[in-house]
Amino acid sequence: MARVTRYAFLVSPSHNRVYAQAAPRLALAELSAVAERAFDGRLTDVGTTTLGGLPYVTFALDDAPAGPDAATVEATDLALVSTLSSVYALFRVEGGRDDAGEAVLRPVARAGVDLFDSDLLTVQKYAGKTNEDFTRLLVNVTVAATDRPRDLAGPWTTRPDGARRRLRVLDPMAGRGTTLNQALVRGWDAAGIDVDAKDVEAYAVFLRTWLKNHRLKHGASLQTQHRDGKSLGRRFAATVGATPAEYRAGETIGVELVNADTVRAAELFPAGHFDAIVTDAPYGVQHGNRASGTRGRDGRSTSRDELTRSPVPLLSRALPGWVRLLRRGGTVGIAWNVKVAPRRDLVDALTDAGLEVLGGGRDDAAPDPWQGFEHRVDQAIQRDLVVARKPR
Ligand SMILES: C[S@@+](CC[C@H](N)C(=O)[O-])C[C@H]1O[C@@H](n2cnc3c(N)ncnc32)[C@H](O)[C@@H]1O
Repeated sequence: MARVTRYAFLVSPSHNRVYAQAAPRLALAELSAVAERAFDGRLTDVGTTTLGGLPYVTFALDDAPAGPDAATVEATDLALVSTLSSVYALFRVEGGRDDAGEAVLRPVARAGVDLFDSDLLTVQKYAGKTNEDFTRLLVNVTVAATDRPRDLAGPWTTRPDGARRRLRVLDPMAGRGTTLNQALVRGWDAAGIDVDAKDVEAYAVFLRTWLKNHRLKHGASLQTQHRDGKSLGRRFAATVGATPAEYRAGETIGVELVNADTVRAAELFPAGHFDAIVTDAPYGVQHGNRASGTRGRDGRSTSRDELTRSPVPLLSRALPGWVRLLRRGGTVGIAWNVKVAPRRDLVDALTDAGLEVLGGGRDDAAPDPWQGFEHRVDQAIQRDLVVARKPR
C-alpha cells in the first residue's frame, strides 16, 4: 500500500491582506482545484486548521507509485504545491492525530518554481491593477484545468512530435501586464492585448526598466503595426534570457503586448497557439470617476464607485476569436465582478462559444472547488472566476 504523508502550509500573509477572512477558503479552493486535476487522486483530505493562531491548509499525499519515474513524479508533486499562490511555508506533519503526542511540523524546502525576483510582480502600482496573488491563483487554476495539468509545475509542455516548448499564455484584456508577468516569472511565453494604448506604453517602459535593472539579457521593441497601409496600433515585444547562456543559445522567453480591441484577437496570433487564456474582465466600475449623469439623493454627484455595465456582451463577441487561438484541450479562465453579471451569464457565454465549463454537475456531496472562489474585493466588487476547456 502507498505510504501517505501529511502536509500543512502556512497561508501567505499577503493572502490574508488581499482576502481577509476569505484567505484560508481561497487557499483551500486553489489547492482542491489543482489536486483534482493534477494528482490523479493521490492528494486528499484537504482542510484548514489554525495552529498557534495562524491559518494553515492541510492535506495528505500518497507517495508516487513505485517505479523508475517515482522520483520525477515526487519532484513534480512538490513543485505543484510550491507554486500555489497561497503557500508561504510548507511543512510535513509528523505525529499527532492517531499517534500519541502533539503533531510536529517539519519544514520542507519549497521547489523553486519562479525564474525571476518577485519584484517583477509587485513593483508596478496603478489604479485598476489586478492583485498579483489573485492573478497567480487564476493562472494556476486555469493551467491546471488543461488536459496537461502537470505542466503547471514548470516552463515546459510537450509538443505533439515529442519535443518540448514553453507553455503559452494569452491575456486578451491584459492592462499593464499582471498576467504577462506571472507567465514570464514561470518561464512561459506570454502575450497580451489591451485596447488602451497607454497601458501598452506603460508596460513597455516598466518591463524594459525592470530587465535593465536586473541585468537580464533581452531584446525589446515597440512598433506600430500596419496592414494594407493602415495603422493597427502598437505592439511591444521582448525576448528574455533567464541566464546569459540561454539568451545566447536563443532559448528565450517571449513577452508581447498588442494595442488592439480584443474582438480582433484572432487576427493577431496563429490559430491553436495558446495553452491557456487568462483574463480579469473589466469590472463595470469606474474607480474614482462618476458615471455621467449620476446624482446622489440630494442631487449632488455621488462619491461612491458607480456600477456601469456587465462584461458579458464584450465577452460574447470576443470569445469566438479567443477559442480559435486556443489549442484543443486548452483552457480559458476569466475573473469578473458578480455584482454586474451573474455566474450563469458567464457560463452561458463560454458554453455558447463551444467550451466545457469546469465544475457543476457533481453527484457527490464534496464541495465543488471550481465554485469556491467568490470573494469580496471592495464595496463595488465581489469577484469570482470561471474556467472552461476547449474539447479535444
Ligand atoms: C480589470 S482590467 C485588467 C487589469 C490587468 N489584469 C492589470 O492588472 O493590469 C480590464 C482591462 O480590459 C481592457 N479592455 C476593456 N475592453 C477591452 C477591449 N474591447 N479590448 C481589449 N481590452 C479591453 C481595459 O483597458 C483594462 O485594461
